[in-house]
Amino acid sequence: MAEPPPFLSAKDVGSFAYLTIKDRTPQILTRAIDTLHRHKSEFFEKHGEEGVEAEKKAISLLSKLRNELQTDKPIVPLVEDCADTDLWNQHLEYQRGLLNESDGQPSWFRSPWLFVECYMYRRLHEAIIQSPPINGFDVFKESKDQNFFESQESVMALCTHLQELIRTIEDLDENQLKNEFFKLLQISLWGNKCDLSLSGGGSSSQKTNIMNSLEDLKQFILVNDMEHLWSLLSKCKKARENMSVDRVYIVLDNSGFELVTDLVLADFLLSSKLATEIHFHGKMIPWFVSDTTIHDLNWVIKQMKFCNHKWMSKCGANWENYIKVGRWVYHDHIFWTLPHEYSAMPLVAPDLYAELQKACLILFKGDLNYRKLTGDRKWDFTVPFHQALCGFHPAPLCSIRTLKAEIQVGLQPGQGEQLTALDPHWLTSGKYGVFQFDGPL
Ligand code: F6P
Ligand code: MG
Repeated sequence: MAEPPPFLSAKDVGSFAYLTIKDRTPQILTRAIDTLHRHKSEFFEKHGEEGVEAEKKAISLLSKLRNELQTDKPIVPLVEDCADTDLWNQHLEYQRGLLNESDGQPSWFRSPWLFVECYMYRRLHEAIIQSPPINGFDVFKESKDQNFFESQESVMALCTHLQELIRTIEDLDENQLKNEFFKLLQISLWGNKCDLSLSGGGSSSQKTNIMNSLEDLKQFILVNDMEHLWSLLSKCKKARENMSVDRVYIVLDNSGFELVTDLVLADFLLSSKLATEIHFHGKMIPWFVSDTTIHDLNWVIKQMKFCNHKWMSKCGANWENYIKVGRWVYHDHIFWTLPHEYSAMPLVAPDLYAELQKACLILFKGDLNYRKLTGDRKWDFTVPFHQALCGFHPAPLCSIRTLKAEIQVGLQPGQGEQLTALDPHWLTSGKYGVFQFDGPL
């Protein structure tokens, strides 16, 4: 088989990877430093002088990190001993091995973008865990929570819609059920516009009722495999025997509005009996600003349960119950916050790969998952998705992603070129989206 193409990298001056490393990542670090500053009195109240010293330490480590990045210093090994430290340091060795002598050391502007961007978030985490007693502080928590509050109107409309739908679900014919499924899939897709790393950590919420925009947004779906998802899940439903289990896995992306859209979809999958269990996969540490951790999931469900909107609160209570009775299961795994492409999963995290094999369908939410699925490489636009997965086929899977990186596969001949002529920023603005499926048809 031919060698896969090279990785996206900030060494390509002017590329989106370059602009991200040059502008967006220092901005994210600066915001993290500001956040720590703003919490100084809270740290003092909780931990006294020790808290203030820890805040100073974390800030100095983050300033150092920002300086290393901006001056393109070599990537250094992690020092704090954690479950993933060896894997990270081995991967750094591997990156070293990819370079010729004349290339020097792996560095921020020379190495693959996926590696250095993930490394930035891991180093940020290291700075925090090296600063006890504030070592459990999530510098992105505030922005994630704000994203949720700013999207209230849309969340209320969505919950009202879901509860009405559940009330009448038994009366729907196949076609109506399919239409509802497609509606909620699209809501989950556009929910992915609300990530907070593209905006450099700034606000990006869903201020209007998303359901009113679905028709207008259809033209921006570049690959639409929703029919495959329907036929797969409705086949599973028909073939299901008493007591047998059909699991859908959702590899979550951002907290806030996007997470609500994913939970609404998950609720619908159970209510419609298209699946019998939903397994969510989230991040173990704060990641790419807005990615969901267990704390975010619990926080969102609690906010909803105790809010004073009848249907939002009903959703919150139902969802808490799904978790309690095991119809919704939350998993996390260090692999999701490693820099590896997913084709490396069977080697690096065979337990996770074996777990994913139990799914009848895996939904991968968001852009970073797409980059990892396709290895973050400079593929031609027309390369089939199956090929770009480089052997990663644990179960039928679908990427649900708005485009925020210069990578897209599986397009029709000429489609990418036409899009470039129409809108030079189509790959990175988050305006376009895909439902891209891989699996037996
Ligand atoms: O630069 C934008 C970016 O940080 C990309 O690196 C990354 O793919 C994306 O944002 C995160 O988006 P998502 O939350 O959809 O994975
Ligand atoms: Mg994200």
